[in-house]
Amino acid sequence: MTDPRLINQSPAWQALLKHRQALADTTLAQLFEQHAQRGQQFKACAAGLYLDYSKNLLTGETLDLLGELANHAQLADAIEELFSGAAVNNTEHRPALHTALRNPAPGDGEQSPAVTQMRSRMNTFADKLRQGRECGASGKVIRDVINLGIGGSDLGPRMIVAAFPELQAEGLRSHFAANVDSDVLKGILSQCHPETTLFLISSKSFSTLETLSNAGLARQWLCDAGFDAAQIACHFTAMTSQIEKARSWGIKAERIFPIDEGVGGRFSLWSSIGLPIAIALGSEAFSQLLDGAGAMDQHFRSADFSDNLPVLHGLLSIWSINFNDHHSRAVLPYIHRLGELPNYLQQLTMESLGKRVTKTGQPCTYATGPVIWGSEGTNGQHSCHQLLLQGIGAVPVDFIATTKSHCQTLQHQYLLANCFAQSRALMLGKSYTQALEETRASGLNEDAAAQLAMHKAIPGNRVSNTLLLDEFTPRTLGALLAFYEHSVYVQSVIWQINAFDQWAVELGKTMSTSLFEALQQAPHDVALDSSSQALIDHVQKGPHPSCKD
Ligand code: F6P
Repeated sequence: MTDPRLINQSPAWQALLKHRQALADTTLAQLFEQHAQRGQQFKACAAGLYLDYSKNLLTGETLDLLGELANHAQLADAIEELFSGAAVNNTEHRPALHTALRNPAPGDGEQSPAVTQMRSRMNTFADKLRQGRECGASGKVIRDVINLGIGGSDLGPRMIVAAFPELQAEGLRSHFAANVDSDVLKGILSQCHPETTLFLISSKSFSTLETLSNAGLARQWLCDAGFDAAQIACHFTAMTSQIEKARSWGIKAERIFPIDEGVGGRFSLWSSIGLPIAIALGSEAFSQLLDGAGAMDQHFRSADFSDNLPVLHGLLSIWSINFNDHHSRAVLPYIHRLGELPNYLQQLTMESLGKRVTKTGQPCTYATGPVIWGSEGTNGQHSCHQLLLQGIGAVPVDFIATTKSHCQTLQHQYLLANCFAQSRALMLGKSYTQALEETRASGLNEDAAAQLAMHKAIPGNRVSNTLLLDEFTPRTLGALLAFYEHSVYVQSVIWQINAFDQWAVELGKTMSTSLFEALQQAPHDVALDSSSQALIDHVQKGPHPSCKD
């Protein structure tokens, strides 16, 4: 029997199902025709962000019902729990402390002395590097900083550093190596010199295979250059919550920047994991990023749900997934500088919301986390937008652009024109009649015109949000990232799931140990399935003659 406490048994959920049926024959185009000011009505602004959500298939009643759903899920209390440090991560019995790391907005309390102190250490170290005052073992100034980390210890800093190349200090380069594939680090090292390179081991757990493997390769590189242990230590820094592990690896105590256990990996760019940001962009830019996130926190915590950007975005995602059967979302930044954003949001959303039981362990009898993917505009228009426009099954889109030009003015206008045109094309499409007029006008005979018109017709009625950043600065980027973090939290609260654990990731890690042992022909206690065994046999024997051309 279905558990009556599940959210889909609530009156609000049932009312939304009925409401969706009532909208079954309504199109987005009709909604815009019926209400000339729709674009003005369904928008909200905060912390330097403008959200237009009018191109969702919804009415005022939809929003009221989604608000009732949020109330049923006690979203307001859940938001307070997050900010007050309650143990919202119940399977690991800890809070989610990322908001405590941001710069509080005016009137929003004080930052803890521990955070202030850690930030000041980070800034001092970052400024020294930027000013060319940090030297390696031989006394030469550090010129290359290589972050060794993966997942949350890579994606956020990598994306933010790439977003502001003009802030990089002259003569200091930043690099990121995540993959265990040694070609990545090898490629970076080929551009660097051992005497002038600093490695940042970025790992909350200080036990992640990829990161420790790369750290080992880095140490070997220095060793091959003739460095002894004391000299090698001058070229490493660590950001971790496992101080002892870092020390026994060989990191000097004063080079360890701690992270609180309560800060989740994918929410950790605001912590010492953000050190590569402070180094690459400067402590002032890092502080602005934290200001922007703090401004979004204040908005999320205090604004009415009807004007609250993360709440609206989260509820619209629920509306898309659970009531409109849209199980993926494309994120399309029309800002080249944000080319890495979809990757970052993939981890944030899919690791947080890819869950199938509620916080109390009941199987969810409704869909949860969406597949997130995307690419920068306008590039995507020449690759994946064909499917968005004409593929079977709609994919909701988040378009992201800037109001004030972030690049050359004319090119910014091209970007905006294309961005707005894509959301309009998704909404309006092209009817068969319109397409037929075109094909007839091109002089085709009636049969050929009718057939080609079938290919040229575009269904339309496909939904999107458009987010405009007032201008492209570390501050607005901080607000944008906090916006997405909170939207994820809202969705988790409605679905009654824990957004802050990731148990499934462990299974792959454990299994890879047995497979590694099998590949190494070492004894292993797990009986492998015949596919895994055949793959290993194939690798060990080398390509089979019958597989060769
Ligand atoms: O992918 C699992 C995960 O635990 C992420 O949550 C985390 O961001 C990443 O691995 C890296 O973990 P760590 O910082 O402990 O090396």
